[in-house]
Amino acid sequence: MNYKTIIEPFKIKVVEPIKITTVEERKAFLKKANYNTFLLNSEEVLIDFLTDSGTSAMSADQWAGIMQGDESYAGSSSYHKMHKTIFNLTGMEYIYPVHQGRAGERILYSLLGGKGKTFISNTHFDTTRANIEFSGAEAIDIVIPEGLNPMQYHPFKGNMDTEKLEKLILEKGADNIGAVILTVTNNSGGGQPVSMKNAKEVSAICKKHGVNLFLDCCRIAENSYFIKEREEEYKNVSSKQIAVEMFSLCDGAVMSAKKDALVNMGGFLAVKNKELSESCKNLLIITEGFTTYGGLSGRDMEALAIGLEEVFDEGYLKYRIKSTSYLGDRLHAMGIPLIWPIGGHAVYIDAKALYPNIPVNQYPGQSLVCQLYLLGGIRSCEIGSVMFGKYDDNHELIPASMELVRLAIPRRVYTQSHIEYVIEVFERILLEKEKAFGMKITEEPKFLRHFTSKFEPIYKA
Ligand code: F0G
Repeated sequence: MNYKTIIEPFKIKVVEPIKITTVEERKAFLKKANYNTFLLNSEEVLIDFLTDSGTSAMSADQWAGIMQGDESYAGSSSYHKMHKTIFNLTGMEYIYPVHQGRAGERILYSLLGGKGKTFISNTHFDTTRANIEFSGAEAIDIVIPEGLNPMQYHPFKGNMDTEKLEKLILEKGADNIGAVILTVTNNSGGGQPVSMKNAKEVSAICKKHGVNLFLDCCRIAENSYFIKEREEEYKNVSSKQIAVEMFSLCDGAVMSAKKDALVNMGGFLAVKNKELSESCKNLLIITEGFTTYGGLSGRDMEALAIGLEEVFDEGYLKYRIKSTSYLGDRLHAMGIPLIWPIGGHAVYIDAKALYPNIPVNQYPGQSLVCQLYLLGGIRSCEIGSVMFGKYDDNHELIPASMELVRLAIPRRVYTQSHIEYVIEVFERILLEKEKAFGMKITEEPKFLRHFTSKFEPIYKA
């Protein structure tokens, strides 16, 4: 029997209280935080949609695994357990634990990067791009055109433009390509999936030109579920098997385990090539730790190994993808402009379309972030001109291409009633649309200004 209600496939054993606050209290908290929700204390937040990274609830099995952690400096049994799980999934022999995704990126891309090198991705995540550019190399994004159009439907909006890929490799010269990186799902493009067909085409082009292909696989299970749902020939294949096939197309992978491995901290770097693995090993030992723990405790590796198995449970994945799209579909039906279709881990609101009266130099995304917090205690993240805007010589803002607000949904943390509450807050957002205020920046750092900038509201006369 098929019921239409998809229930959370878990029950709650441990709870973490949420402090209920009033609008008046939140006004004071927001002012104190200088209208930057990164500067709020977490107990001032009702529903925390800042990120899906490191915010998962671990299972009873993972907590039990924590007690089994072997903290030996070398040859830890927890490492071997983690190695086995990752090897079975990726088929990659050389596996190094790192403290989080960006540490793996730094090791791999500093080795393959440097001046004159080019990296090509559907969309490089910020830390990936930063690590590549820090090495002196350039990072080029070539997602398919549909991936850049918020409302245009495409089942795999995270796909890479393969025509552009081949052209770029020829133009730059294969020897100058540091690597091609497929980000699954494509976080910076709205959490949109990459199809197996596209991954196979990308892999064939890379093989033809002798270029390395890596997976940024922090949301690989969610991506696999989308393939199972949307790519006809995979409908009877398990999500795990789909992931195994995708890894088989690649030369290596970097994973921030804080997402689909359902842990609060951790990651790994895996490669097939022995020579490359030796160079990675040296850098790992210098900067993270010995090969059998890298940046992690034994207990972290236990939890990671268990989480990486749990995440491929089809019941869990169905709940995960359907619950994210439930929120997005309801907001869409209500008339909230957003990236369509809904991605795997987050709903991305188009704040510029929601608040056409707030000019981009008054940051409509930041304005929505503040309204969500004031009206509902919801913490979200601006992905627009606060995050990516630059200034010209006259200190005029060069805005980002989109003014988005991301509602990233932690895994196994919130229930249906939390989501119903968020939907109700958005009803209020629509009712009070005209009251939303623009923002000005009063203090900002040189880099990554979204984290620490201070703002002030621009109240209408
Ligand atoms: N790659 C992707 C696609 C990511 O989304 C992230 C992190 C990383 C790499 C880096 O991993 O944080 O473990 O060093 N994304 C988080 C987010 C921060 O909120 O989307 P990390």
